[in-house]
Amino acid sequence: MAQIDFGGVVEEVTTSEEFSLQKAREVLKDETVAVLGYGVQGPGQALNMRDNGIRVIVGQRENSNSWDRAVVDGFVPGETLFPLEEAARKGTIVQFLLSDAGQMQTWQKIKACLNPGDALCFSHGFSIVYKDQTGIIAPENVDVILVAPKGSGRTVRTNFLDGSGINSSYAISQDTTGRAKERTLALGIAIGSGYLFPTTFEKEVYSDLTGERGVLMGCLAGTMEAQYNLLRKHGHSPSEAFNETVEELTQSLIRLVAENGMDWMFSNCSTTAQRGALDWAPKFRDAVAPLFDELYDKVLTGEETQRVLEVNSAPDYRERLQKELDTIHESEMWRAGAAVRSLRPENRGR
Ligand SMILES: NC(=O)c1ccc[n+]([C@@H]2O[C@H](COP(=O)([O-])OP(=O)(O)OC[C@H]3O[C@@H](n4cnc5c(N)ncnc54)[C@H](OP(=O)(O)O)[C@@H]3O)[C@@H](O)[C@H]2O)c1
Repeated sequence: MAQIDFGGVVEEVTTSEEFSLQKAREVLKDETVAVLGYGVQGPGQALNMRDNGIRVIVGQRENSNSWDRAVVDGFVPGETLFPLEEAARKGTIVQFLLSDAGQMQTWQKIKACLNPGDALCFSHGFSIVYKDQTGIIAPENVDVILVAPKGSGRTVRTNFLDGSGINSSYAISQDTTGRAKERTLALGIAIGSGYLFPTTFEKEVYSDLTGERGVLMGCLAGTMEAQYNLLRKHGHSPSEAFNETVEELTQSLIRLVAENGMDWMFSNCSTTAQRGALDWAPKFRDAVAPLFDELYDKVLTGEETQRVLEVNSAPDYRERLQKELDTIHESEMWRAGAAVRSLRPENRGR
């Protein structure tokens, strides 16, 4: 483990320098990792581990697009691709990567497939922390561990392929074998994490639910829409409104933030932009702070997870979701976005 100073607070982290891929292979050499679910996270983690020389099988319900995708990705039915329960029985580490609602719905069947000494691994604290809602209580004779990539499964894969990585948190809630920690770190390295930082199941799920509803997705989408609508209301063209709201952010400014921080982005903008941003940032911070308090409370009380389980357990949840996404896709703002993207030099003429 390395001790790193995060803005004055020293934390322990693990990278492939402290825990090499070679060591991960050694720890996992007698294990079969069964990745259950081939949705978003499943493919990213399964393919990275397979490329890193780990024995990986996939469990996925048959007659589904996800099953077909696993086949296209080289998993072979009957050899490395199985129905969920069969994969769970064969795995010594069961990586539970069904949607969180799917985990609740299948749990009783999956639980019956676990063998003593197996590790049950999650990428979210959801199922275990909100056990009163999900009914997921692991048997006492298995390790219960967590490796949670802090990014979409899609980038877990693309970052791996381009030689970078996605950072992951990790936690252990039950160590029956005495090997839970080394198994967890080995998995974290094998899926291609940039660095691994310790957390608990509770802290992981509270921060994750807040982050995705907040700055990462919900707040971002809502704030963008508010600014776009404001500019349109005042007679700005869609092209202008979209460029000033989204395109400049994604193509220029957020890249500078990623590279070297917020101050670096500010220092590479005009003095006019700097002055305005420095004056307005605290106003936006104070305006949204009460909303963030409300959000965190709803996460803690379980109101957010209850809604997720209810909505995502409906048999027609995919169709309903698609309708909501179609509404965004068809809105003027995001149709304008498609036009703007088509005009990027690299996209012209495609
Ligand atoms: N999405 C991310 O990038 C991300 C990031 C960090 C952590 N996580 C966590 O990783 C886990 C997996 O998330 P995900 O986003 O990858 O999930 P997802 O894409 O929603 O996963 C869907 C998978 O679950 C299966 N599934 C859903 N309901 C099922 C049911 N009732 N019976 C059998 N299979 C069912 C789907 O099969 P079908 O295709 O057949 O429907 C598919 O394989 C979750 O705990 C999530 O919180 C996700």
